[in-house]
Amino acid sequence: MAGVSVQAFRRQGRRYGAGLVCSEMVSCAGLEHRNERTLGYLRVASDEHPLAIQIFGSDPAVMAEAARMVVAAGADIVDINFGCPVKKVTKTGAGATLLDDPARAGAIVAAVAHAVPVPVSVKMRRGLEDGSRACLEIGPRLVEAGAASLTLHPRSARQMYRGEADHRLTAEFVERVGVPVIASGDITSRARAQEVLAGTSAAAVMVGRGAQGNPWALREIVDAEAGEPSREEVAAELILFVRETVRELGERRAAGFLKKFYGWYLGRGRFPRPFKQELVGLTTTEEVVTRLFAAAPGAAVIVEQLEAELPDLTGEILLDSMPISIYGGG
Ligand SMILES: Cc1cc2nc3c(=O)[nH]c(=O)nc-3n(C[C@H](O)[C@H](O)[C@H](O)COP(=O)(O)O)c2cc1C
Repeated sequence: MAGVSVQAFRRQGRRYGAGLVCSEMVSCAGLEHRNERTLGYLRVASDEHPLAIQIFGSDPAVMAEAARMVVAAGADIVDINFGCPVKKVTKTGAGATLLDDPARAGAIVAAVAHAVPVPVSVKMRRGLEDGSRACLEIGPRLVEAGAASLTLHPRSARQMYRGEADHRLTAEFVERVGVPVIASGDITSRARAQEVLAGTSAAAVMVGRGAQGNPWALREIVDAEAGEPSREEVAAELILFVRETVRELGERRAAGFLKKFYGWYLGRGRFPRPFKQELVGLTTTEEVVTRLFAAAPGAAVIVEQLEAELPDLTGEILLDSMPISIYGGG
């Protein structure tokens, strides 16, 4: 997810049971021009594999070159974005627009699949307009072109995130395409994951917004016995997330980037609302961490344990130049 799936988020997802994590979408034009900020997205940590890196663009040759770069950076899968509904992206002929141009979409997949030795997957929406069934036509063409798996988010581009993901369409899509399908959209719990898997015969589910500030949703989906986290666990996980994000982005970027996460972690009745407002109002992440320890003293021992279990990534990931994403969507 653009503006969310930083390395700390992906690594946390892996710790909580995600079988595969994905980067946010990376501009192939940015990679082509060796844009320093775009290159920042390609830093991969040792404890996040298997990792898909997602690229977006509209030119098959440029996408192929971008795919080679992301594989060189360590991606285990190259994912192609045919789902982003945001104007900034669609007006360049990339993202969801390609659902309306099957020939070009197929040419992109073929060029990318030809360029790299790893599996190539595609993430797509149902189509551009509400009620569209374009995915059913284009899906098989993408498989023919070389896509090894497809992820469907069954909303239209026009819908953005409104309404519900219509997984009845996912079921039809699975029947049609003959490769593993990952179902994306409104999966927030074990019950919903099971319902969608059973109702669609999809190979897997993808969890997006449901994991924001809530890695415990992932744990619950993979482990029936998993319970709700305690306040101390929540505070500890947030403290770790703050520290890891600061290491990635540097204090200046991280301080702003993290603000939306405070509400995500502390909501769901876990902490009183004014506490969240208080954290958002603090200037430095150090102050945030101090305040969290004060509110949940038992978090200290948990943070210590969590940090002891992390691999030493010294020298591996310093993302000072990494941008806060300006795109936002799929
Ligand atoms: C803030 C935000 C950023 C997103 N960025 C991407 C992206 O970069 N690439 C992509 O394929 N999908 C992106 N998506 C779409 C999600 O992958 C997912 O398909 C969608 O949110 C529905 O799933 P959910 O209900 O589990 O969130 C984004 C969604 C959100 C909310």
